[in-house]
Amino acid sequence: MDTNRIIQAIQVSGIRRFDEAIGSSADTIKLTVGKPDLATPEHVKDAAVRAIRDDWTHYSPLMGFAELQHAASQYFHTRYGLTYAANDVLATVGATEAVATSLLTLLNPGDGVLLPTPAYASYAPLVAMAQGKLITVDTTANGFKLTADSLERALNSQPTTPIKAIILNYPTNPTGITYTRTELLALRAVIAAHDLYVISDEIYSELTYDQPHTAFATLYPEKTVTINGLSKSHAMTGWRLGFIMAPQPLIAEMKKTHQYLVTSTSSITQAAGIEALTNGIDDGQRMRAKYQQRRELVANRLGAIGLNYVYPAGAFYVFVQLPSWFNGTSWQFATQLAHQAHVAVIPGSAFGTAGEGWVRLSYAASSTKLTTALDRIATWINQMEENHHVIH
Ligand SMILES: Cc1ncc(COP(=O)(O)O)c(C=O)c1O
Repeated sequence: MDTNRIIQAIQVSGIRRFDEAIGSSADTIKLTVGKPDLATPEHVKDAAVRAIRDDWTHYSPLMGFAELQHAASQYFHTRYGLTYAANDVLATVGATEAVATSLLTLLNPGDGVLLPTPAYASYAPLVAMAQGKLITVDTTANGFKLTADSLERALNSQPTTPIKAIILNYPTNPTGITYTRTELLALRAVIAAHDLYVISDEIYSELTYDQPHTAFATLYPEKTVTINGLSKSHAMTGWRLGFIMAPQPLIAEMKKTHQYLVTSTSSITQAAGIEALTNGIDDGQRMRAKYQQRRELVANRLGAIGLNYVYPAGAFYVFVQLPSWFNGTSWQFATQLAHQAHVAVIPGSAFGTAGEGWVRLSYAASSTKLTTALDRIATWINQMEENHHVIH
């Protein structure tokens, strides 16, 4: 084929490939894609219906409607103390477009981008599409957290690559870890010393369970590109609304990339967004309370089964280690679990080589479903352990 070589070299994400590979048999409980099971709040849906009836159905300004920019500026100030002006907010087609637009705007060909791994599957292909050079930092040895030391080492290991930026994502998909303010300040010191841009994907910020979420831009406003959105906080994955927030003149550069990729996000979705960010300021916290109960349920059951896992401080995922008796890859483990126990989880290798040896279980599912899924996992693990003569 004579099509673009960068595109030829990338694949549909392991998450979607695995999800498609195991099919959609009715008796399999899918704890795979990071899709909230909760419904979009009724008042948000009503606002979108009203927008259609009122003919809010044409192009919006490129950056998004002024009301939406204003609502987002207020909301992120109230929730996290961010001080972006309304004009510093760009409404995007989900956080996905926000990541793409940020990378395409920031990078020149060959610029290095640091990425702590395991990581959300979109970053590496998007860095490749922006012709950047990806430098991964394996966080496995530090409980999946990037430390100032490991960051410094990664920076020094690349003497010939101009490192432009680092992608941070916390709470983290797939591990559910997050960072304290003190840990972020330690990272900030190294980042500032090397004058890096930070692309901070905080799409799970509302789902932080044990401590307040610290937005990176409150520590490093001058070179942070903040990414957020309503997909997870307001159970709005299908509406496709995200945000890039960055100081001028950076955001003005982003606007150009955004225009030629998508023009703007849907005007109907923006009407829903205005409602969510103004009258739905507490919606995310209500949802968080539900996810927190499920976190306890899943963690308790995994512990009782004897599986090693990372206790999640945020998002709605648990990263679970393959049992030591299992002789195979995370893809093989997840395939067997799906076929034999009828529970689907995502192989850790979908999040980079650092995720091998683990699987990701999404607890964005009802407690009833989670309980049945964990019963099945317990029974299956028991049988497998008997076959392998495992003694506890
Ligand atoms: C870390 C992370 N960033 C971005 C996204 C994409 O968000 P959106 O649906 O708003 O494009 C996801 C979705 O799973 C995610 O986990």
